[in-house]
Amino acid sequence: MADLDAFLRQDLAEAEARGLRRRSQVLDPLGGPRFQDGRQKLLSFSSNDYLGLARDPALQEALCAGARAFGTGSGAAHLLGGHRSAHAALERDLAAFTGREAALLFGNGYLANLGAITALLGRDDHIFADRLNHASLVDAALLSRARLQRYRHNDLQHLEALLQRTPARGRRLIVTDGVFSMDGDLAPLTALAELARRYDAWLMVDDAHGLGVLGSTGRGSLEAFSLSPQDVPVLMGTLGKAFGVYGAFVAGSQSLIDFLQQRARSYIYTTALPPALASATQAALLLVQQDHWRRQHLQTHIQRLRQGLKSLAWSLMPSDTPIQPLLVGEAEAALNLSQQLRQQGFYVPAVRPPTVPQGSARLRITLSALHQDQDVDALIAALQDCHHAS
Ligand SMILES: Cc1ncc(COP(=O)(O)O)c(C=O)c1O
Repeated sequence: MADLDAFLRQDLAEAEARGLRRRSQVLDPLGGPRFQDGRQKLLSFSSNDYLGLARDPALQEALCAGARAFGTGSGAAHLLGGHRSAHAALERDLAAFTGREAALLFGNGYLANLGAITALLGRDDHIFADRLNHASLVDAALLSRARLQRYRHNDLQHLEALLQRTPARGRRLIVTDGVFSMDGDLAPLTALAELARRYDAWLMVDDAHGLGVLGSTGRGSLEAFSLSPQDVPVLMGTLGKAFGVYGAFVAGSQSLIDFLQQRARSYIYTTALPPALASATQAALLLVQQDHWRRQHLQTHIQRLRQGLKSLAWSLMPSDTPIQPLLVGEAEAALNLSQQLRQQGFYVPAVRPPTVPQGSARLRITLSALHQDQDVDALIAALQDCHHAS
């Protein structure tokens, strides 16, 4: 047997040589979209805190009040004494916000996807998943042991062909990101709902990047497409992105939620989310609904960035959301561009395989309601400089 450390070192060295080694960076907040890495100040275009709520004083107050009332941890799983009034109130509010009968909190989005899909499907069932779905949906499908069929990204004809070819036996679930996390584009939800109806499948949408951001009142991808709970019976949302906190939920009919409470292993066999996070999320939910200016700012920034980067060698991928990926191609080139920007005081991470397909490494630029026009202009100018220097 190979020595463990020798094996690990070789694997890491290979990743390094191919420009694929990932490293976390210590970035502490300075205010708004600005962060500090040691002594370097960086303007960040990397966060999923799209509405700029993660450091909002109202949320911080609610978090502290929640911690004083409930303590720092829940101390137990939801079904074994860890469920508090803060959790119950947030579940009611999330159900109302999404226009559904009920909602169930999970520790995070990864766990919510694992729990929902493995509860709904088993060995004799079928799952149809967009090829660019988030890793947690892929893992959930594999863990469920249902037959996984992945259709080409947003390709309805391919999906329909797979649905036609699949025997009628067993349950069928179509699952998609609402907004694709590394591409920023939207799933064709109206057509997916229609296919689900025609082929007797349930539709599940992971709206991690749509909730709070899309739709005139921030209710996400389903609001943007005017879809009903009947169209999309299983909705997953996360609380660590536009809501600025942490956690996730599944919303749906009362029966779906009652069923998940019995069957979703990542709900049952884990400590309940700290209740103070639920208190902070309730405060976030109010701001998401009241502060339309946050979504308006995002729209202005999206237009400004797209207009400003039109003449560059690298092109922005088609996207109307705050996720604006700049396609570079090779992993090393994306990493170099990210490093050049960093030298100029910008933090824009390079996303490389296996997170994205080979040859499609990119800078994942994300916009926040707290960016100012001049921040967006500064990034455009810096990218133009990098372009001229290349
Ligand atoms: C589409 C999508 N689904 C699920 C998740 C996982 O959510 P969480 O970070 O709450 O685990 C993410 C990202 O983190 C995501 O982008």
